[in-house]
Amino acid sequence: MRTDRHAFNLDAAAASALARRPGPDRARIEEVLERTRALGGLTVPEAADLLAVEDPEGRAAVLRAASDAARQTFGRHRLLFVPLYLTNRCANDCLYCGFRRGAGADRKWLDGEEVESELEALARIGHTRLLIVAGEDRHAAGIEEIGLTIEAARRRGFVEAAVNVAPLTVDDFRRLLDTGASRYQSFQETYHPETYVRVHVGGPKADYAFRLGTMDRAVEAGFRSLGMGTLLGLHDYRFDVLSLLSHALHLRERWGEGIAVSVSVPRLRPAEGAALTQAPSPVSDDDLLKIVAVYRLALPWSAISISTRELPAMRERLARAGASHFSAGVSTSPGGYARPHPPMDVTQFEIADHRSLREVARDMAGEGWIPNLCRRCDEEEAGRAAYECQCAPHERGECLVRLRERQWAMDGAAR
Ligand code: 5AD
Repeated sequence: MRTDRHAFNLDAAAASALARRPGPDRARIEEVLERTRALGGLTVPEAADLLAVEDPEGRAAVLRAASDAARQTFGRHRLLFVPLYLTNRCANDCLYCGFRRGAGADRKWLDGEEVESELEALARIGHTRLLIVAGEDRHAAGIEEIGLTIEAARRRGFVEAAVNVAPLTVDDFRRLLDTGASRYQSFQETYHPETYVRVHVGGPKADYAFRLGTMDRAVEAGFRSLGMGTLLGLHDYRFDVLSLLSHALHLRERWGEGIAVSVSVPRLRPAEGAALTQAPSPVSDDDLLKIVAVYRLALPWSAISISTRELPAMRERLARAGASHFSAGVSTSPGGYARPHPPMDVTQFEIADHRSLREVARDMAGEGWIPNLCRRCDEEEAGRAAYECQCAPHERGECLVRLRERQWAMDGAAR
């Protein structure tokens, strides 16, 4: 495979130095926060200063600024989505993961009929946005299966199908794009090379450099919407968050303003069959809130996704700190929606929010959010206004269609 000299290359020494900055004084915090009010984002050194804030008052100021930013970009909308696991087969040996090769017995790909049953169950519940997930099977990249799943999902009225599969070559990313995938997502887990090789001990994923080049290859193949993340708990969060921001800024500089980045913030959870059950560098609730706030301020128009790895009360606090997308009513076991309690299921990690979609939506509305499952927003974006918007009529003024139009314009203007 040819090498791409312009692909993202982390300056680990520079990231380390930024991650060790001492906490800024009050005046500096105010100065940086003041700059964020125009929603122009943050430079990496500015983000480093905010991440170094430890005192409660300083933290509260950062959270307030992020909350204000989110009000301007997402209004009261918080978008709901659901992951659909196609397989728990995996050739990798990631010490933290319940899908690591060798763990558990019952490994499978869903067949066509089972995919239909899953989609039917999810559509009946009311889901509209799908994140298709598959482990890294040595024998099948699964692109064909993903294509068939997306087709079936479209027929059932789903409006979005993002895909989280193992990193591909540029050619295979082209095939994946042709399936109609709306976003490609995969997490670097940690940008710290030594930690990376320590926890990814087998399979294709053990190759740090190949993973680091993933997003450049996906964009080269034509993807414009990218989901990034680090697995929080593996290494110093300041190093990983700053590295991810450098990576995101690199993608926009290299490939232009049309690149939309979304960020996930998974914290390490216990997983049946995992070898690593304790986070080597634990991230507290307060740290996670600060991380989400800094991402919101650095990438004001980006999606920030929260999964069911977090407890309901924490998810509410994260919504206030500026997270925009929430999974709900989740099973991490293939076949887990049509058959809620599969007997020998191998799951990726234990979830912490067991509420149904309906309960999540009800609780969010109770907190003053608009739990957004809107079909019209997405359909209009695709030029096919077909569905009734589920937002209350007086909320349509801040409907996401308009927010997204502004997003493209603002991102272009800001950089
Ligand atoms: N706890 C939390 N997240 C996990 N993942 C894998 N194992 C765990 C775990 N034990 C995350 C990884 C992977 C994503 C799909 O799930 O970050 O990329």
